[in-house]
Amino acid sequence: MSLLLNGIGELVTNDPVWGERQGDPGDRLLGIIRDAAVVVSGGIIEWVGPAADAPAADERRDLGGRAVIPGFVDSHTHLVFAGDRSAEFAARMTGTPYDGGGIKVSVAATRAASDDELRTLVAGRVAEMRAQGTTTVEIKSGYGLTLEDELRALRIAREFTPHTTFLGAHVVPPEYADRRADYVDLVTGPMLDALLTDGLEASPAAYVDVFCEPHSGHAFTGEEARVILEAGRARGFALRVHGNQLGHGPGVQLACELGAASVDHCTYLSDADIDALAAARGATVATLLPGVEFSTRSPYPDARRLIDAGVDVALASDCNPGTCYSSSIPFAIALAVREMGMTPAEALHAATAVSGRSLGLDRRVVAGAPAELAVIDGPSHLHLSYRAGVPLVRALDVLPSPMPG
Ligand code: NIG
Ligand code: FE
Repeated sequence: MSLLLNGIGELVTNDPVWGERQGDPGDRLLGIIRDAAVVVSGGIIEWVGPAADAPAADERRDLGGRAVIPGFVDSHTHLVFAGDRSAEFAARMTGTPYDGGGIKVSVAATRAASDDELRTLVAGRVAEMRAQGTTTVEIKSGYGLTLEDELRALRIAREFTPHTTFLGAHVVPPEYADRRADYVDLVTGPMLDALLTDGLEASPAAYVDVFCEPHSGHAFTGEEARVILEAGRARGFALRVHGNQLGHGPGVQLACELGAASVDHCTYLSDADIDALAAARGATVATLLPGVEFSTRSPYPDARRLIDAGVDVALASDCNPGTCYSSSIPFAIALAVREMGMTPAEALHAATAVSGRSLGLDRRVVAGAPAELAVIDGPSHLHLSYRAGVPLVRALDVLPSPMPG
């Protein structure tokens, strides 16, 4: 059964073939087609182009001039957690700084939760994301911090996405506070071994990540992070890194040196960090998480400077109970446009094409690609930030039917 989506006022394809026909730089970047149509069949895109050229299909759906975009790729989340840290958020709003110390509160609550409780919590968060246009999500462990609890988190995450990341090196758990080296040994030895019981292909994790933050006291130093990342890489895992969130540190340069797929946060960057990221273009993406700066009152990263230096910049939510309990990519886009010097087109590209690339995905809307699409209840992608805070965007498969208006 094929479905023709007709009456698309603006179609964002991320495909340079369409971009070449556009004069406006944002339209070029996004590969925009105006008055477009898409044919979808069996979850796959069959045809993309101007509505006037659209082929026949079994069913038609008129989108009434709305914009269609690639579904957001949220390439950085920590959805497997239990418990509540809203009081920590409230304290930050009156001046208490964030240092990662609250992670242990989520670790205790997550360890105490049953598998079914965690599964229900993750399912709710994934549904919340789809209702806001996110069709692909990466999910990290990191609130278990025992071998069994980390494995459990990854297995539950795997029920929702293949893009799973082992973050056993989130913080040193309280029971290892006086023997950090022993915890690093646990992560690089028994934990990584347990992920490979049935081989790399069948591992519940695709990536290994480290919270590299010497300023925190709770997270890992550059030396510790290097040992953990090299151990992960030696076993065949691709790498992601939490770097330079709380201050200038070694995380960004380490990630670039080790060929990590992504280095995330990038809040505090030196000139040398920017040079390293620019040199790593095509290999390491800088993933910015402006919901974190919003929720921790930190300065926003200078995305304009990164893009102008030639760095691949992605946007993601970092949805987690501590630094940003927002699952909203439109919110991240609005912050990036208002506070970080990104154009609306750059922000949308960052939250689809570039975040997708950091997960090894091609996020162009082309024939043969999965029909991972989202619909904006407005005429163009500009409305994502122009109408900040309004729930305008939904994954195609959770659109109300018939559409209002
Ligand atoms: O990405 N930076 C470290 N980890 C998370 C926050 C974890 C928490 O506070 O619970 C982050 O911001
Ligand atoms: Fe994070």
